[in-house]
Amino acid sequence: MADHAILAGKRVLLVIAGGIAAYKSLELIRRLRERGVTVRAVLTEAGARFVTPLSVQALTEDTVYRDLWSLTDESEMGHIRLSREADLLVVAPATANLLARMAAGMADDLAATVLLATDKPVLVAPAMNVRMWQHAATQANMTLLESRGVLRVGPNDGVMACNEFGPGRMAEPMEIVDAIAGFFAEAAHRPLAGRRAIVTSGPTHEPIDPVRYIANRSSGRQGHAIAAALAKLGAAVTLVSGPTRLPDPAGCRVTHIETAREMLAACEAALPADIAVCAAAVADWRVDGAGDRKLKKDGGGPPALALTENPDILATLSRPGERRPALVVGFAAETGDVLAYATAKRARKGCDWIVANDVSPGTGTFGGSDNTVHLIRADGMESWPTMAKDAVAARLAEAVAEHFTKDFKAK
Ligand SMILES: Cc1cc2nc3c(=O)[nH]c(=O)nc-3n(C[C@H](O)[C@H](O)[C@H](O)COP(=O)(O)O)c2cc1C
Repeated sequence: MADHAILAGKRVLLVIAGGIAAYKSLELIRRLRERGVTVRAVLTEAGARFVTPLSVQALTEDTVYRDLWSLTDESEMGHIRLSREADLLVVAPATANLLARMAAGMADDLAATVLLATDKPVLVAPAMNVRMWQHAATQANMTLLESRGVLRVGPNDGVMACNEFGPGRMAEPMEIVDAIAGFFAEAAHRPLAGRRAIVTSGPTHEPIDPVRYIANRSSGRQGHAIAAALAKLGAAVTLVSGPTRLPDPAGCRVTHIETAREMLAACEAALPADIAVCAAAVADWRVDGAGDRKLKKDGGGPPALALTENPDILATLSRPGERRPALVVGFAAETGDVLAYATAKRARKGCDWIVANDVSPGTGTFGGSDNTVHLIRADGMESWPTMAKDAVAARLAEAVAEHFTKDFKAK
C-alpha cells in the first residue's frame, strides 16, 4: 500500500461520469478528504443522474461544476482555471463514453473540455459492463490514452450491477486512493531532475533511391521506453527516433529522423547532455551515391549496390572531450556469444555501459514486448531476468539515477 502521508495538501479535480459506480466516488471523496486532499468535482450530465450534485457538494464542501455554459461557474472559475488548479485529475467512474470522448479529443461538455484543456496528469478508473470494456473500441481508446500518458487504476474482475461477471468493475475507493498516493510518490521521486539525456531509438532507413530503402526490424519499443523512464525520473530527454509505429512518449522532446547521418546530427544538436543512451538499431552501411532517380528494371539485371560505412553514433558520442556526456550507454544486439561480443564492443566504442541482448530468431526480442538483457559495466556484469521492455527501461533508468547519485556523493 502506498504511503498516504504524501497526499496531505494535494489538490484533486474529480470528474464523475455517468456510471453505476458513481456512488463509490462519494466514498472516494471522503477517503481523500480524510487524508488532507482538497477535492473539487466536475459532474457530467449523466453523472448527475447517478449521484446528486448536493451529495457531491456536501462532501467536497465546494461548488460542483457541471455546466460549460453556466455564467456563474464560468465567472467564478473558468474551465481553463478549473483544469489547471489541480495537481491531478481523476476520472472515476470513467465511462466508455467519456474514454471515447477523451481519446477523440472532444470538448463537448465541461468534463471533456477540462480534460482536454488540462496540463496536469490524468488518472482514470474505468467502470462499465464487461462487454463494453472488452469491446475493441474501448480497448483501442484506452491504449491510445495510455500511450499519451493517461494513468489507469482498474477495472477489477467481479460481479457487476448488470449481473455479468468479468473485468469492468471500478476499482474500490481505497484502491483509487492508493493509486493517487502512488502517483504523487512517483512524481516526487525525480533523482534525475536537472539532468539532460539523449536517447536514440528505432531503426534507420537508408535510401537506395527515392522510393526504396534498407531498414531493419527494430520496433523502437525499448528505446522509447527508456526515454519515457528517464523523463519520469526527472531528466530532460531528447529522443532521436528513426521511423517507428510508436507514439511519441509523454514528457520527451522528440526529433524524428530517417538516416544514420541525420540521427548523428540530431544527437549532436542535442548536446550538451549528461546521459546518452544509444538504443537505436543504426544501419552500419548505407548505399553509396543513392541518387534522386528511381532505379529502373531495364533488362540489364539487378543493379549492383555499393555500400559505404555510416558514422558510428555510439563511438562518436563516447569520444573523450568536453562535450562527451558523463554517462554513455550503448546497446549490443547479438545473435550468439552475446557477452563476449558485448564486452568487446564496450571497449571498442569507448562507452561506459553496454546493455546486451540476444536477438536470435525465436527469442522474440526484436519487435516483441519482452527483453532479456545483461548490463555490462567496467566493474562487472549483471544479468537481468526476462522482463517487459518497460520494466527493463525502468530498471535501467534507476541504475542511471543511482550512478549519478553515487557520483555526486563521491565528489
Ligand atoms: C442504469 C445505467 C447504468 C449505466 N452504467 C454505465 C457504466 O457503468 N459504465 C458506462 O460506461 N456507461 C454506463 N451507462 C451508460 C452511460 O450513462 C452513458 O453512456 C452516458 O452517455 C455517459 O455519459 P458521460 O460519459 O458523459 O458521463 C449506464 C447507463 C444507464 C442507464
